[in-house]
Amino acid sequence: MLTFNINGKDHPLEVPGDMPLLWVLRDVAHLTGTKFGCGMAQCGACTVNVDGAPLRSCITPAAAVASGQKILTIEGLSSDGSHPVQRAWAEIDVVQCGYCQSGQIMSTVALLAKIPAPTDSDIDQALSGNLCRCGTYPRIRAAVKRAADLGEA
Ligand code: FES
Repeated sequence: MLTFNINGKDHPLEVPGDMPLLWVLRDVAHLTGTKFGCGMAQCGACTVNVDGAPLRSCITPAAAVASGQKILTIEGLSSDGSHPVQRAWAEIDVVQCGYCQSGQIMSTVALLAKIPAPTDSDIDQALSGNLCRCGTYPRIRAAVKRAADLGEA
């Protein structure tokens, strides 16, 4: 039995320690907002934040994050879209197919917690590991700035 602190709540779960965190979240905790992309930490679709830092959940063993570290997934931002980053994403109408976007948003949340008013280069650097096959990068950059204006920190 491993206990995971997910979105502010402890979840004792019967999972093997080497199970990828992404499987724990999607298949065991039924939090399916985090996506499987490449499975090799190359695309960023599976990004969640652990103790405030973005982490690729597809290659992270469950046991590595089951000791009281705070795991934040897209579901933990808000259920009604009221989180500043979610609001900015909706205002700018960022999403195309949507597959990469929970990862983009989680990387943005981590960035804004560290740098509340990021420059273009801060944004490009922080989100360089989050690929978007639809090419929404200009809208993502605008939405990060809009989220910064809306007061995410
Ligand atoms: Fe389609 Fe990013 S919106 S992959």
